[in-house]
Amino acid sequence: MCGIVAYIGHQQAYPVLIKGLQRLEYRGYDSAGVALLTPQTDILVYKQKGKVRDLQEAVKNQPTKSFIGIGHTRWATHGEPNDVNAHPHTSGNGELVIIHNGIIENYQPLRTALIREGHSFESETDTEILIHLIEEIQNKEAVSIAEAVRLALSRVVGAYAIVVLDKKEPNTVVAARKGSPLVLGIGKNELFLASDASPIIEYTKNVVYINDEEIVILHPNGEFAIKSIDNEEQTPFIQYLDMEIDSIEKGGFPHYMLKEIHQQPTTIADAMRGRLNVQQGIITLGGVVEYENRFKNATRLTIIACGTSWIAGLIGEYLFEDLARIPTEVEYASEFRYRNPIINNQDVIIAISQSGETADTLAALELSKEKDALTYGICNVVGSSIARATHAGSYIHAGPEIGVASTKAFTGQVTLLTLMALQLANKRGTISNTYYFQLLRELEQIPEKIKQVLAAEAKIKQIAELWKDCPNALYLGRGYNYPVALEGALKLKEISYIHAEGYPAAEMKHGPIALIDENMPVVIIATNDSTRDKVISNIQEVKARKGKILAIIKENDHDIAALADHFIEIPDTAEPLSPLLSVVPLQLLAYHIAVFRGCNIDQPRNLAKSVTVE
Ligand code: G6P
Repeated sequence: MCGIVAYIGHQQAYPVLIKGLQRLEYRGYDSAGVALLTPQTDILVYKQKGKVRDLQEAVKNQPTKSFIGIGHTRWATHGEPNDVNAHPHTSGNGELVIIHNGIIENYQPLRTALIREGHSFESETDTEILIHLIEEIQNKEAVSIAEAVRLALSRVVGAYAIVVLDKKEPNTVVAARKGSPLVLGIGKNELFLASDASPIIEYTKNVVYINDEEIVILHPNGEFAIKSIDNEEQTPFIQYLDMEIDSIEKGGFPHYMLKEIHQQPTTIADAMRGRLNVQQGIITLGGVVEYENRFKNATRLTIIACGTSWIAGLIGEYLFEDLARIPTEVEYASEFRYRNPIINNQDVIIAISQSGETADTLAALELSKEKDALTYGICNVVGSSIARATHAGSYIHAGPEIGVASTKAFTGQVTLLTLMALQLANKRGTISNTYYFQLLRELEQIPEKIKQVLAAEAKIKQIAELWKDCPNALYLGRGYNYPVALEGALKLKEISYIHAEGYPAAEMKHGPIALIDENMPVVIIATNDSTRDKVISNIQEVKARKGKILAIIKENDHDIAALADHFIEIPDTAEPLSPLLSVVPLQLLAYHIAVFRGCNIDQPRNLAKSVTVE
């Protein structure tokens, strides 16, 4: 949801900003812009509707010489995507520029007050109000730009990560955050700011994650200071980032999404690394150990999340209830936070988030903390807001996920939930030793089995070609594979723009069956023995209405293979682990259908990777 980047140092700022924006494009991509402070202390602003490459094209023959600059890639919240609404935004006197990620909620009253003071606005954005507010403070008081920003922010309600330049103070860059991420990179005599570390790690691995309500003031030669919005000096906590540049490149794949699908054997192994000891029958998730009694004695678990992470949470519900016998609720964070939920100090709340920045999940988490619940985070992005705000947690260690449609983060989250459920089941004595050891052995084999599923890609691509023009699709699953049906439908919707619905297979009779005819493709996940006969009945019901069936089946299930129009076999595994395998063909199916339809795979329309607004 918008990416921001800034540079101050000895290199030419423009190429650093452009490269950074390309890395951040997954966060928003309806327009992009830069502001450059030239050695003659002019501010050059270039902004453009479209992608970063459209901006580059527009700037090709323009002057860009500067050692200080800011850049932005936008995902529209206020105002349609066009050149005027693109960031950076400039103050009325043309001396100040700003980039902003987030939402200024009280922008209407601020706007009215500023109009009364004689300000007029070019764009429809909330951000332009903020830069005029800073200008207005400077008009009234002789304060530095850092102080003017601080005073302005004390009047703002909402979420922001901002960076501001002032022509009058050409050796200063001021940035601040509340609710939207901001990372400071400390290089040799140069400093970087960005929404995440991806634009920075090429230059330095020393970073400071700026905290909420902190202001950071940068100067040339690598000097910087951090203060709170209450004007208290802060001591920066410098972290070394263990991340390689390869991890954010495509590595020979045509799209990040395909790379990330193929990374899953490795990323799932990484999620288990150091945590699973099959020989000794030990699972060690540090955060769970730390709060062992709270978890062991929990009367219920509540999972809060959005999007794909919410679907991973649903699988968590099946795992926690089936294996650890702990009642579990899964909530959309956006609903949970506003429905006055009943939470108390006995509750354990698990927040799942790839980015660790989703605004609704973060707010639901804060609410849970206010009510004294124990909070546990399952995040991918190290140092992210949710990871830092929870009492304890586990990273999934999937590495940067850049494709907007989540794939490897989903299987990483499900792996983590499986480990948690097994650890708790063992501690609570809710499953037999034999079954526990069997699940551990099976879990260890999942990465190898995913490789076998990936080997079916050519066949999946053929089915994708046949189905690429369908207007609708239905995904059905039961038990552990019901959430997989939801995830398969979500993937297809997100990247191919085909309307798709996921349903519990038995519920088909209560509505979706009315839609089935010879034009309706139906994906049925039929890998599990416990519901096999019932799923076969569902297949018959679809066939009777001439629907086209792709069945995801267990190896050598000849009976179902004979009934279906198409089938993909996946290796046998224990039922609670089956989602980790059955979701992979659905990811590939969505991917190849979207490629055949000529869709933008990594940056689907209207979607953002990290949703830092409500
Ligand atoms: C957006 C993304 C989804 C993601 C969801 C939740 O909608 O496009 O892929 O599942 O946000 O994000 P989170 O980072 O909290 O997992």
